[in-house]
Amino acid sequence: MPMIILKTERDLEAMRPACAVAGAVLDEVAAFIQPGVTTAEVDAFAASRIKHYGARSAFLGYRKYPCQICISVNDQVVHGLAGPRQLRFGDIVSLDVGVVYNGFIGDTARTVAVGGCDLAAQRLMDVCEKALYEGIGQAVAGNRVMDISRAIQKYVEGNGFSVVREFVGHGVGRSMHEEPQVPNFVDGKSSPRLRAGMTIAIEPMINAGLPGVKILNDGWTVVTQDGSLSAHFEHTVLITETEPEILTCPSRIPSSSKAS
Ligand code: MF3
Ligand code: CO
Ligand code: CO
Repeated sequence: MPMIILKTERDLEAMRPACAVAGAVLDEVAAFIQPGVTTAEVDAFAASRIKHYGARSAFLGYRKYPCQICISVNDQVVHGLAGPRQLRFGDIVSLDVGVVYNGFIGDTARTVAVGGCDLAAQRLMDVCEKALYEGIGQAVAGNRVMDISRAIQKYVEGNGFSVVREFVGHGVGRSMHEEPQVPNFVDGKSSPRLRAGMTIAIEPMINAGLPGVKILNDGWTVVTQDGSLSAHFEHTVLITETEPEILTCPSRIPSSSKAS
């Protein structure tokens, strides 16, 4: 089994602020979303907020990824590229923010409506967010990764939606993608035991229709094969002996960067 990096208290002193910055930037970008803005404008706004905190994008340049954040609209699942597309009232947009700060990465995502949306889209987003918290609820030392996967899959499928198979959650720390993989479905493979000090990104990606996805010709944008809507929520979480600690909350923004 490949190595899972446990974080020391000293690592966490550096990683907590990195995750807080990611959470703050995601909040700010979500608040910037409104009908008429282009995804390029959203990406530029994200760049300015990341810079404000003295952080940098963890995505830009990763495997030649060309944008600051991922912006995925409607049937786009993840890894959507910023461009001239204008967001319209009723669209739903998945925002995924990863930053490097203090040498550590915080990774967090959320789907929001542009102005407003219909009930079906709102239900999809609500189920995805709730599925994330179902997964986080299993993220305690002594459980297995599979316990997170099972909780997410059960909640999503129990509500009539489907779970994407091709992309999964992951360990995160000094690198964006560390061991272990954290699938949103049970795959029958052996599954590592969760231990205190592990930091993992839990990130259900769910579709209103069938689970299948494909990648567009831009080489990045992942869309649903059937054209149905998709949603994505993600937090970076610390495993402890007791309650999981959700790291990507903006509450503990480093004060040194808050002032300016
Ligand atoms: N943030 C994504 C994840 O949650 C990874 C994005 S990689 C990029 O794992 F290259 F598209 F930015
Ligand atoms: Co992410
Ligand atoms: Co992630």
